[in-house]
Amino acid sequence: MDEQGFLEYVQSGGQVETDDWMPDEYRQKLIKFIEMHANSELMGVLPEREWILRAPTLQRKLALTAKVQDEVGHAQLIYRVVEDLGKPREQCLADLISGTSKFHNVFHYPTRTWGDVGVIAWLVDAAAIISQKALLKCSYAPYARIMKKICWEESFHILHGRDVILTLMLGTDGQRELVQEALNRWWAPLMMFHGNPIPAENDPVVQWRIKTQGNEEARQQFLDGYVPQIWELGLTVPDPKLRRREDGVWEYTEPDWDELRSVVTGHGPMTAERLEFRRVTREETAWVRSVVLAEAA
Ligand SMILES: [Fe+2]
Ligand SMILES: [Fe+2]
Repeated sequence: MDEQGFLEYVQSGGQVETDDWMPDEYRQKLIKFIEMHANSELMGVLPEREWILRAPTLQRKLALTAKVQDEVGHAQLIYRVVEDLGKPREQCLADLISGTSKFHNVFHYPTRTWGDVGVIAWLVDAAAIISQKALLKCSYAPYARIMKKICWEESFHILHGRDVILTLMLGTDGQRELVQEALNRWWAPLMMFHGNPIPAENDPVVQWRIKTQGNEEARQQFLDGYVPQIWELGLTVPDPKLRRREDGVWEYTEPDWDELRSVVTGHGPMTAERLEFRRVTREETAWVRSVVLAEAA
């Protein structure tokens, strides 16, 4: 099969297995995309991890611990897929720590209150599941397969987040303000989450059918699914321009794409601190790897 034949095959819904022939460009695009996903799962636990000890009840601590474990599990699964494509996991972790590879914008921001924990589990996971559901039809079959388990767990995270938010919204004025204040800070990063509105026909990741939907399509789906729920809870979305047109399309204030670029290239408010945390823990656990790998050898 040549490159053109391969492109036509994946565009018509064909799927590729690890040992199948694939063009180099496709392999490189897959590695970059999937590696960023794995990095995001791994870095995404750091903002939540800070709240395990501060969670208000035992049940909340247990739920948050379980969610953090799920996310680390997702990272493990996804790094294995990258590894099968030819990039060792050790290299992925080294590139993450050195800032050579990227992770999602939302994980570069601080979590200031318990309200943030609810907003992350509900709305960040909701934005993520929209992207991940579209990966169930990814042209690279091993990635599409693991997405089934991941999507199932992400749906559960959303329920957990919604429960945290609902409890706060049914509480005191102070608790409601906590949620509103967290939503105000998280709205801009959420609107940037799916990326700039590059047309699907110009997006190579869509052309290779690695992703099966365009960025703007994903954002519209997020707005359509969640803005009505946010309003129903009595919360205000901090965007005066936000409205649903007669034809069903959501209008909104254009996000600051320069901020997105700056954040994902390593200049977010928490980027340096979180990468430093990863570097230190990797150093501290190096002896475990050397003992286990020496055993295995
Ligand atoms: Fe996850
Ligand atoms: Fe999740």
